[in-house]
Amino acid sequence: MSKQLSAHAAWAELSDGLYLAKGRCPATIAKHLDQCLGKPVQVLDAGCGTGAVLAAWPREIDRTGFDRDSGLVEHAAQRTQPGLRFVVGTFAEPPAGSFQSVLALFAALQYVLDDEARRQAVLALQSRVTRGGTMAIELGPDPDTMHPPVAIWTRWRTAEGQWWMRRAMATLKDQTLAIKFEFHRGGPASPVVHCDTHLIRPVRRDWWIAQFPPPLWTVRFDHIPGGGPLLIASRA
Ligand SMILES: C[S@@+](CC[C@H](N)C(=O)[O-])C[C@H]1O[C@@H](n2cnc3c(N)ncnc32)[C@H](O)[C@@H]1O
Repeated sequence: MSKQLSAHAAWAELSDGLYLAKGRCPATIAKHLDQCLGKPVQVLDAGCGTGAVLAAWPREIDRTGFDRDSGLVEHAAQRTQPGLRFVVGTFAEPPAGSFQSVLALFAALQYVLDDEARRQAVLALQSRVTRGGTMAIELGPDPDTMHPPVAIWTRWRTAEGQWWMRRAMATLKDQTLAIKFEFHRGGPASPVVHCDTHLIRPVRRDWWIAQFPPPLWTVRFDHIPGGGPLLIASRA
């Protein structure tokens, strides 16, 4: 009997080409993170999705990725390398261990819509950061800087031919942004092959900063190449 994949896992095999077409190159992101996090020796990637960033890390360090979506973890686990592993887990209960850097990329933590649940998730992830280590969170939509919702088309080519993806941001409802993804093979007028909707909570930058109080934490900001703002919190 075939396993029922989540909508997100159903288009996982398309995501490498799609991310590149959008200028979000995993190798560039991994190299940037390795440098700005001070060349960590163990990294935990929370909500790792397809595992592309950990797999593209420029050095063969100890890397663990986890995601609540078992279909995505299965996809990620096909990227076999020494020191690289992927497991099913949640932000609230991350894999045991301590890590020099804990990552949460591409607004993964903003998939937790409830402020208190997100606060608990940040606490659980902080507990996995070693002394002197860092936590790096790529921020997504911020209600103070959000532009009006728009639809964006991305086109790229795979061995199977031409793909198009339409990303449409629905209007904000109950403080939640519904981002709808529609995949077409051939052209925009061709039938939709995959469809998926992600719910994301716009979160103010101040909220994030408040989760990392001094003197234990020091916060600075950077940027993910081809992506969003990056909060880097260093633990004393
Ligand atoms: C936008 S994707 C980002 C994937 C990956 N970090 C990247 O940069 O491509 C958000 C990911 O967070 C995962 N996620 C959402 N809520 C989660 C939770 N409570 N625990 C673990 N993973 C979660 C989703 O399954 C999804 O793979």
